[in-house]
Amino acid sequence: MNQQSALMTEALKHMPQGVAENYRYWGDTKTVFIKSAKGCELTDSDGKTYVDFRLGYGPIILGYRDQRVDQAVIEQITRRGTLSGFSTELDTEVVCQIKALCPNIDKIRFANSGTEAIMGAVRTARGFTGRDRIAIVEGGFHGLHDEMMWKSDLENWDPTGLVEPGIVPFGAGVPQRSRELLDIIRLNDFELLEQLFVARSDTLAAVVLEPIIGNAGSIAATPAWLQRLRDLCSQHGALLILDEVKTGFRVAKGGAQALYGVHADLTTYAKALGNGYPVAAFGGRAEVMDVVGSHAGGVVHGGTYTANLVALGAAHATLKILAQTDALYTIDQVGSRIRDLLGRVFLAASIEHAFAGPAAMFGIHFTPQVPANYRDWRMSDTELYRRFAWELIERGVMLEPDSREPWFICEAHQSVDFAWLEDMATRSIQAAQRSP
Ligand SMILES: Cc1ncc(COP(=O)(O)O)c(C=O)c1O
Repeated sequence: MNQQSALMTEALKHMPQGVAENYRYWGDTKTVFIKSAKGCELTDSDGKTYVDFRLGYGPIILGYRDQRVDQAVIEQITRRGTLSGFSTELDTEVVCQIKALCPNIDKIRFANSGTEAIMGAVRTARGFTGRDRIAIVEGGFHGLHDEMMWKSDLENWDPTGLVEPGIVPFGAGVPQRSRELLDIIRLNDFELLEQLFVARSDTLAAVVLEPIIGNAGSIAATPAWLQRLRDLCSQHGALLILDEVKTGFRVAKGGAQALYGVHADLTTYAKALGNGYPVAAFGGRAEVMDVVGSHAGGVVHGGTYTANLVALGAAHATLKILAQTDALYTIDQVGSRIRDLLGRVFLAASIEHAFAGPAAMFGIHFTPQVPANYRDWRMSDTELYRRFAWELIERGVMLEPDSREPWFICEAHQSVDFAWLEDMATRSIQAAQRSP
């Protein structure tokens, strides 16, 4: 028995499905156990090395075990410990770093995960507007709290029929009640957008969305649709919450908002903010954020581990590097090169394909046109993609075998052997075309 199988056999005795959280379960025989990581490479417990484009679902922006970040964390914790439940000057310093990169942010509060940041932003929006309803966009993902655990059931939907997909919870244990205040609209659909604001004009607290859907293959809002959403929010007194958990400090120094020139009232950040250390934040307009606090009528926000020194040490170092070096330029160049080589491979194999999103986190869709929304994704050849991905994994290229997860690029990918990658992609697509 190889080491991975032995580890899984043992893990199955102690954790549901043998994993620490659901998304790591790739089956009893295919779940990956990692022995070491460095740069853009992972080595599994059987000693097989992969060039990793999954990057832990996106947080790694520089590379694994980046010495500049790790050293900054060590310095913080050897001086002050991991947390004290009190403030440090680092809190303000990191906020100022974020503000320097994201000019629409006036004030910030910290969190420990994307889920927590979204919870904070939504509560703040409700506290500020005095309204309860929220709307999200089909195909987006905003963390694991009950209200965000509803989706359009595209897996069981017939895209050729006239029946709308059902709205279902992500899984058991999500109370029906948690969707009572939720509407789901479709990306880039102007009609549904107008209808939402007609129906919910006085009750809508916020629209929450990923402008580039990092959980639906980087399918992106058109600038015109995002601007219309911005205008309607302003007109109707609802807040625009842009979830930049995946795009923030990745697709540009100022995130997706810098690309679009459209600014949210509240924004959530996590992932690239700490190069893999668990740190998150939500922030926005001062007038909105000032509703947060322990004053009468204030919005509650807190948490034992908030702004701990591991998190802030990592964020401080990561943001400094992103602000002062050309790391994001390198990522953009490397991502474009990888997209180009994959394009050549698909063309040579006569596969209709389209890339979505920016080079730092691009989606691949086996379909003639870039999908405009999540339902279009369902029309792509997801099965061929899944086979292609598994063939790549077999050959030492790690990625999520689901085309809804983009390819993430980090600074360390500049050392990738591009000719090797093109060769692996060629062999993988040929094998995927052959296999049933
Ligand atoms: C856009 C977006 N928002 C929120 C979350 C939740 O973040 P976390 O897993 O840190 O709770 C994720 C996670 O992938 C995400 O992609």
